[in-house]
Amino acid sequence: MKRRPLSVVLAGEERSLQTAGGIFSPDGVDKGTTILLNEAPLPAAEGNLLDIGCGWGPIALSLALHSPAATVYAVDVNERSIELTRENAAALGLGNVHASTPEDVDPDVRFDTIWSNPPIRVGKEELHSILLMWLPRLAHNGSAYLVVQKNLGSDSLQRWIAAELGERFPEAGFTVVRHSTNKAFRILHVTRTKP
Ligand SMILES: C[S@@+](CC[C@H](N)C(=O)[O-])C[C@H]1O[C@@H](n2cnc3c(N)ncnc32)[C@H](O)[C@@H]1O
Repeated sequence: MKRRPLSVVLAGEERSLQTAGGIFSPDGVDKGTTILLNEAPLPAAEGNLLDIGCGWGPIALSLALHSPAATVYAVDVNERSIELTRENAAALGLGNVHASTPEDVDPDVRFDTIWSNPPIRVGKEELHSILLMWLPRLAHNGSAYLVVQKNLGSDSLQRWIAAELGERFPEAGFTVVRHSTNKAFRILHVTRTKP
């Protein structure tokens, strides 16, 4: 993989990182990701945090910079993305980022905070199975913030998540609300209110 330098602001400071072709938004922080990073409340200070679909790592790295005492899981199916996230975490001296394929995360781990710009373009069925793999693993009082473009179906996705989690896990007390909205994007906020 041919790497090239990438300079971006994450968690309020300019960071010197690396990027490469063949991954999502290789030359900067995507618009939706920027909105998520600016508008989601700070992640849990400790515990386990998750970025679903990490790309070169903007979300996972921000989680780790905000919460150095937490363990950050960064998952992707794209090997280049996993490698770049690992290297970028090392470049920032962040020893608390674990980048891997989804299958390599211990299924017993529960997450206090999930931040994600999920892969909408993989299609509804695949997106639904990704969300059903991770959202039920929110810890009690854990929160997930997902940024979704309005014209890629954020409102119907919100309804689907609420209906599906409610039906499959009635005892977990999942709630799904719109955290914020602007012209093109919504941030969906999923919480687990019961153990
Ligand atoms: C919209 S991009 C976001 C990338 C990065 N978080 C960012 O904000 O720039 C979605 C990412 O999800 C990854 N992805 C696709 N299918 C996936 C799956 N089944 N599990 C985990 N990640 C997946 C893609 O490779 C891509 O990197």
